[in-house]
Amino acid sequence: MRHLLATEGLDAEAATAVLDTADELKRTLLGREVRKLPTLRGRTVVTMFYENSTRTRVSFEIAGKWMSADVINVSAGGSSVGKGESLRDTALTLAAAGADCVVVRHPASGAAQRLAGWLADAGTSVVNAGDGMHEHPTQALLDAATLRERLGSLAGRRVAIVGDVLHSRVARSNVHLLITLGAEVVLVAPPTLLPPGVAALPGGASAGASGSLTVSHDLDAELPAVDAVMMLRVQAERMHGGYFPSAREYAIAYGLNERRLRLLPDHAVVLHPGPMLRGMEIASTVADSPRSAITEQVRNGVHVRMAVLYHLLAGEGETA
Ligand code: CP
Repeated sequence: MRHLLATEGLDAEAATAVLDTADELKRTLLGREVRKLPTLRGRTVVTMFYENSTRTRVSFEIAGKWMSADVINVSAGGSSVGKGESLRDTALTLAAAGADCVVVRHPASGAAQRLAGWLADAGTSVVNAGDGMHEHPTQALLDAATLRERLGSLAGRRVAIVGDVLHSRVARSNVHLLITLGAEVVLVAPPTLLPPGVAALPGGASAGASGSLTVSHDLDAELPAVDAVMMLRVQAERMHGGYFPSAREYAIAYGLNERRLRLLPDHAVVLHPGPMLRGMEIASTVADSPRSAITEQVRNGVHVRMAVLYHLLAGEGETA
């Protein structure tokens, strides 16, 4: 694997290899006082975030450090981007300075792909940490890791992805990955928060993908039949024009409250990528309940990002 830009087109074998490595890393580090492996000593990872982040930025930094890589964080505000330097020039500068891997979050869909093109000759890997409304592949991988942990295999499992699907790169990456891994995905949202032509979404899923995609507007009807429910963040910052439900309307129709939690089968898992809008997308009592795997998602995010860096940067013959 040279880059990780999307889950669209990521085949089941490559995704499973990352998930298996993440599992192995988690088992290896469990209970250790010093959680540091020598695997990426001498490698340099630069994180470059043009949008706010807590979970993704911090877990990439921890992941790199636990693998003994040197990790440098560049923020748009504190760099020459603030003086008007382009993304291309910034990327070429980081590569020339010795970055082995650039982890990028950017508001423009397709930014990570462009970066990978500009760095084609530099030998620098690119990881997409979220590009506009397009993809957030490491979020989908950590969600899959969490679901595998709680449910065993994903094959044949039914996963509801609920809420602001239209603006969600998390939803898009999850649709592709979950279908590739054999899950049945149901998108549950009001019509105005679904992408136009949503049925075409998984068109880029890899050959051999065995899952399915359906759409529903009725959360109560879907909950009794799912193995997992993934609540999405409502992205008010991306809502320009059009009709979107008010916070109250949204909570009534699509919020995961205690009554709805009781509609789920006993084994079903509750996920949310964060940051959460408690009381709107999800009730506090639900987010903090034993059914919720939200904290585990964050923990698994570190191991999954360690695994991604390992697959991108570790040389032949090196082990995690
Ligand atoms: N889930 C997620 O991407 O969170 P951050 O925006 O905090 O990185």
